[in-house]
Amino acid sequence: MTEVTKTELTEDGKVIRKVRSFVRREGRLTKGQEQALNESWPTMGIDFEATELDWQQVFGNDNPVVLEIGFGMGASLVEMAKNAPEKNFVGIEVHTPGVGACLMAAREAGVSNLRVMCHDAVEVFEQMLPKDSLDTVQLFFPDPWHKKRHHKRRIVQLPFAEMVRDKLKVGGVFHMATDWENYAEHMIDVMEAAPHYQNVAQEGLYVPRPDDRPLTKFEQRGQRLGHGVWDIKYTRTA
Ligand SMILES: C[S@@+](CC[C@H](N)C(=O)[O-])C[C@H]1O[C@@H](n2cnc3c(N)ncnc32)[C@H](O)[C@@H]1O
Repeated sequence: MTEVTKTELTEDGKVIRKVRSFVRREGRLTKGQEQALNESWPTMGIDFEATELDWQQVFGNDNPVVLEIGFGMGASLVEMAKNAPEKNFVGIEVHTPGVGACLMAAREAGVSNLRVMCHDAVEVFEQMLPKDSLDTVQLFFPDPWHKKRHHKRRIVQLPFAEMVRDKLKVGGVFHMATDWENYAEHMIDVMEAAPHYQNVAQEGLYVPRPDDRPLTKFEQRGQRLGHGVWDIKYTRTA
């Protein structure tokens, strides 16, 4: 386990501690993951750099872009990409073995409408994503940070929600899912506080589980343990 917070210096040399939503747990790459990273990164990987991306250049077309934060091992992201060839998919994950596993699955499925990044999604949003450019942002089962004193590590916070909104097109959707009720309530509180978002749910605050969201390993485990799942969708209104 390495650091959760990172120390950075401001321009005038002041030390600031940046709160991260993840703990790096590199783990070992399997042979298959390593091979997939070596072979598929040149075509499907996007390196982190402080330059704004151009989706037309990345995908060679103007299809709608769906971006997923924290795709884990990527099985559901690959399935979504395979089921919707008329859309482009981008996945961001900090866990390198997960990125390798995703590339393995992508190759097996033969998808060409998927790109992956291996970096902190918050920094990717800040530095690389063009404004008003995404059709959908997906955040499925983000680390819940159960303890109250860790709630500040939850990725869904007001500045994050506003940053996501600014990268969505007007009419675009921010789709979240969690199996932790307290996090679901926190997500709703944050989204209600962020201007220019509207809850998509017709009745109550949550949408029914959408058929196009594949069952992830994480969700399967939750189901076995008898957990509930809360799907939340907000659309950008202005
Ligand atoms: C609880 S797992 C869920 C994985 C997957 N979405 C699923 O449903 O199986 C959360 C994932 O988010 C990733 N993650 C957390 N914070 C992140 C960040 N700031 N940028 C990119 N990935 C992040 C973690 O590495 C982890 O794989």
